[in-house]
Amino acid sequence: MAFIVKKNINGNEYYYLNENKRIDGKVKTKTIAYLGKIKKEAEKKAREIIKKMTNDKKEMNKKKKVEDNFGMRKLMNKNISINDMAIFCKRKGFVYPSAEIYGGFAGFFDYGPFGVELKNNLKKNWWDFHVRQREDIVGIDGSIMTNPEVWKASGHEESFSDLFVVCKKCKKVNKIDKSELGKVKCEFCGGDYDENKTKEFKLMFKTTVGEDNYTYLRPETAQLIFINFKFVQENARMKLPFGIAQVGKSFRNEIAPRDFLFRLREFEQMEIEYFVNPKEKCPYKIGNSKILVYSENMQNKKKEPEKMKFKDALKNGIIKTDWHAYWLEQEFLWFVNLGANSEKFRIRQHVSDEKSHYAVDTWDLEYKFPFGWKELQGMANRGDFDLKQHMKYSKKDLSIFDEKIKKKIVPHVVCEPSQGVERALLVFLFDAYTYNKKRDNIILNLHPKLAPIKAAIFPIVKRKGFEKISESIFNDLKKDWNVVYDKSGSIGRRYARNDEIGTPYCITVDDDSLKNETITIRDRNTAKQIRIKISQLKEIFKRLINNEIEFEKAGKLIVTRIK
Ligand code: GAP
Repeated sequence: MAFIVKKNINGNEYYYLNENKRIDGKVKTKTIAYLGKIKKEAEKKAREIIKKMTNDKKEMNKKKKVEDNFGMRKLMNKNISINDMAIFCKRKGFVYPSAEIYGGFAGFFDYGPFGVELKNNLKKNWWDFHVRQREDIVGIDGSIMTNPEVWKASGHEESFSDLFVVCKKCKKVNKIDKSELGKVKCEFCGGDYDENKTKEFKLMFKTTVGEDNYTYLRPETAQLIFINFKFVQENARMKLPFGIAQVGKSFRNEIAPRDFLFRLREFEQMEIEYFVNPKEKCPYKIGNSKILVYSENMQNKKKEPEKMKFKDALKNGIIKTDWHAYWLEQEFLWFVNLGANSEKFRIRQHVSDEKSHYAVDTWDLEYKFPFGWKELQGMANRGDFDLKQHMKYSKKDLSIFDEKIKKKIVPHVVCEPSQGVERALLVFLFDAYTYNKKRDNIILNLHPKLAPIKAAIFPIVKRKGFEKISESIFNDLKKDWNVVYDKSGSIGRRYARNDEIGTPYCITVDDDSLKNETITIRDRNTAKQIRIKISQLKEIFKRLINNEIEFEKAGKLIVTRIK
């Protein structure tokens, strides 16, 4: 706050407007203006300057807030579009259009400092759930380019294509499935597609190897699992039923990449090929969770999807195999356990002319994106198509001995949970994104396991003693978690900055930290704070991140002014 100061110099009175400011933890007095020699005039001038200063400050805060909200007030609304999400991700350091400084490159994106952490956490959690926590699934990491015979055997070289179509009316280029030819209109303007311009468009990227050999960038990770199937089964001593998992890049020369991370030319897949003797029943329990079910029959009869338990969908013959019902539920639960909104999911069966060349039956796990219900994960029953094809082309025996029936068989892939990493990332971002009116900032309500930064550690003000303790906490926590140390800006700004990128906890060092070795932890979603002993921090923090303890029960709840 500014105040008037009178100085006596050589018997004359001079008036000044001064202000106290905290600089590097110390309060320093600064002169803002000279006000003259006459008291009344000095007071009038001071009032004018203070009024202007207050207005400037208000204006600056307003501008800053608009900038912080990306100059787009509509982002301060819960239901943001896919384009708004792209803007948010770019501005907050999650995802950038690839080669943005050269105008971008359609269908390709780069991950920023928070995006790469989020994506790595997502893949790690997928791997933990599907591989580490199970005894029947092991992993591999196959090459991106492989012998082109693989793609002949799999059928991709021959038939992995879409139809390239051009609208007669709006002239926009799009892709449609072969099964949609003659049935669908232009999705932008409702016009007809020009038959003369319709052509088959191969989706695999072809590339040269050595001087004159060729191959393709893999369009799915699945084939690398099939070609290594026999080695993996022998080396890991797997017995039917068992699965092989892989997470890695895939590439498709999409005709019309669009909707930010939804349809890309370079993306990542998290896939499992689950091998069984088709005569054997699924030994795992199908639980009681409910989901919207949209079978082929319902679609053909133009009925609405129905909410039901997975196990009832199986019992009523809507889902044909117990394996399919089991995996559909597991995949749904993986999302829900990591904080996704269960109301925005449904399972939809492929209608007969929509199925891939290899599929016996396919169900998609779908999510309600702002641009409609879309495929999140495809779960095809591939039968023994792939292993038989590779046996035919490689002339190698890929059958294995099934100890239960004491016979060699070619196992069936009864279900292939195949999830795109980027689509999963979009789900978690959309479900986490909230705008809090009271706090007037965005809160990215990510599950702590997914959050790019697990905690931000602050000295409440810049003061040597506070900074020393904060740094030591930071150095200790960073051994186990991705945490940041932040001492710049007001405490409110630091909280808001972390809310926006999804940091679940902020740890603050204050006067009491010096007095009784305690710190406060603030919860992102509620802005509530607890006080705990520094010596207990690591243990409590671990339990908070793993959702093993309720926040309010983890320490002594305190009342604070800044939320
Ligand atoms: N191995 C089976 C397979 O690849 P898919 O339905 O073609 O099946 C599986 O792809 C998943 O991969 C999709 O459900 C989606 O999540 C993701 N995916 C496929 N194409 C994609 C693309 N162009 N951009 C982003 N993700 C894609």
